[in-house]
Amino acid sequence: MEFPTSPLADGEVLVRIERIALTTNNMTYAVYGDSIGYWNLFPATQPGYGCMPAWGYAEIIESRVPEIPTGTRVFGYFPIATHLAMKPTAVTSRSFVDGAGHRTGTPKVYNLYEIQPQGPDPRMDSLISLFRALFITSYTAADYLRERHYFKAEQFVISSASSKTAYGIAHCLSDVPTPKIGLTSRRNKSFVEGLGCYDAVYVYEELTDIDPTKSTVYVDLSGDDTLHRRVHEHFRDRLAFDCLVGSTQSTSFPEQDEDLPGPDPVFFFAALQLDSYKAAGELRSFMQRYLRDERIFLERIADTRRPWMTLVEHSGLDDAPAVITGLHNGSTDPSGGHVFDLISR
Ligand SMILES: NC(=O)c1ccc[n+]([C@@H]2O[C@H](COP(=O)([O-])OP(=O)(O)OC[C@H]3O[C@@H](n4cnc5c(N)ncnc54)[C@H](OP(=O)(O)O)[C@@H]3O)[C@@H](O)[C@H]2O)c1
Repeated sequence: MEFPTSPLADGEVLVRIERIALTTNNMTYAVYGDSIGYWNLFPATQPGYGCMPAWGYAEIIESRVPEIPTGTRVFGYFPIATHLAMKPTAVTSRSFVDGAGHRTGTPKVYNLYEIQPQGPDPRMDSLISLFRALFITSYTAADYLRERHYFKAEQFVISSASSKTAYGIAHCLSDVPTPKIGLTSRRNKSFVEGLGCYDAVYVYEELTDIDPTKSTVYVDLSGDDTLHRRVHEHFRDRLAFDCLVGSTQSTSFPEQDEDLPGPDPVFFFAALQLDSYKAAGELRSFMQRYLRDERIFLERIADTRRPWMTLVEHSGLDDAPAVITGLHNGSTDPSGGHVFDLISR
């Protein structure tokens, strides 16, 4: 759909979006659109509609901000669209914040745009568009568990184990000897086994085959209320910690169930973790450590001899509705990563 554009005001820039990625995480932005405020970020012009956000790269093609010349490239959060007008504030040589009045309600990191000193690198840009928000979640979630001595767990159970965020967590815990058990759907079991980052893999129906006498940390990526109840009823007081990270199988914020045995779930939100690093002046040092480890992870992911994931490149946005339908109904092959190239048509 084409929308008319109005001329830029002083203090605004217009970006042309180069590349964005879509995974189930984007579906969760829609699911939590009202509760976390994602719908505020790119308001839809038509009532009853919302603009689903996506991570990617863009180039400033018009600028009325003296410190940001045209040709500047940025990484950040964009609508699934070709262009976006923004109002940069807090401009430094490394980043700016979109200070447009409607960009409220969500953690601050969603409004932060990183200026890219280098030109496009399609392969690496695709991998980062796909994984930056996911792997930073895996990484900070592993940090969060490490800082709490893994709740002295004897095993980790990770649901939606085929998701990129889940196997990122398993990867980040690879130096921890505690077994990492992946829980997945039957159709994705062989994919998850092939990753090699889980010590054992069970399908959801086999949950009760996992040893319930071991102290267990549950890392919940599925957000499925029924599975959640089954996990609590299986591990009961051996559930040392219940960490809600994702909602791949849910179309609403998971319900709080007061009557469950074991600890209450704790919602882990990477964006708030990053905001707290920023508030403490630690974001830069965190990012240095993170970027080094992200590079190692991405090389492993895309290792051509035995890739964990293959890039699926789409030209333009024509395929986006079909990709979104597949992500929404869970039929997407987890071995693919969908990226949309909006400029080389
Ligand atoms: N808390 C945070 O800060 C944070 C940050 C980033 C991401 N996340 C969350 O992490 C989750 C994973 O995101 P991702 O982008 O990594 O996922 P992904 O790589 O696209 O993985 C998709 C997997 O999710 C499951 N799934 C997806 N849709 C389904 C459906 N309709 N029915 C049944 N199963 C479905 C399947 O796994 P199985 O067959 O293995 O179940 C599927 O292979 C999302 O909910 C995302 O929002 C949270």
